[in-house]
Amino acid sequence: MSAARALPLPAGITLGGSHTLAEVKALLADCRLPIDDISDNVIFVVARTDRGLCGTAGLETYGAIGLVRSVAVRAASRGNGIARALCDEIIRRATEGGVRRLFLLTTDAQALFRGLGFAEVRRDSLPPAIRETAQFRELCPQTATAMVRDA
Ligand SMILES: CC(C)(COP(=O)(O)OP(=O)(O)OC[C@H]1O[C@@H](n2cnc3c(N)ncnc32)[C@H](O)[C@@H]1OP(=O)(O)O)[C@@H](O)C(=O)NCCC(=O)NCCS
Repeated sequence: MSAARALPLPAGITLGGSHTLAEVKALLADCRLPIDDISDNVIFVVARTDRGLCGTAGLETYGAIGLVRSVAVRAASRGNGIARALCDEIIRRATEGGVRRLFLLTTDAQALFRGLGFAEVRRDSLPPAIRETAQFRELCPQTATAMVRDA
């Protein structure tokens, strides 16, 4: 459950459903998020309009620990609660899959994730599974904030 109440998505936007990894990677690349470390290790939830994908959120799982990543919404669709809805859904799936603690790294969307119940945490207190991810190793320590919440 997220900390803030989710609003209904605008008409014409659907959440979930099928997608290809190529579609997701194209969206992430357009939003300037990393794609090189993505394969079957990440599950995605997508949002779609009749013109294609407009948003996505991903989850890497390490036993009871999850890394929320690759949260992106196309510029034209931002400000409608799509990222919040995608995160709510990926968190729901994480919980359903047995994840108990969720982590993420973000350079500038801290406010979005605070609204979803995440709190900032010191990078040096992150569990080894998270520190070993490409996301952790490749993101700049000075600018990326680590955040955590119970699933
Ligand atoms: C960050 C991003 C995913 C937000 O998508 P969005 O669909 O516009 O977000 P939402 O409409 O669901 O916003 C939910 C809340 O987060 C806030 N928010 C959205 N984007 C934000 C950002 N970049 N920084 C801070 N707060 C943000 C909104 O104000 C909103 O708060 P409110 O409900 O109190 O008004 C989108 O701007 C994006 O794709 N950016 C580029 C990629 C990126 O930086 N991803 C995050 C790193 S994992």
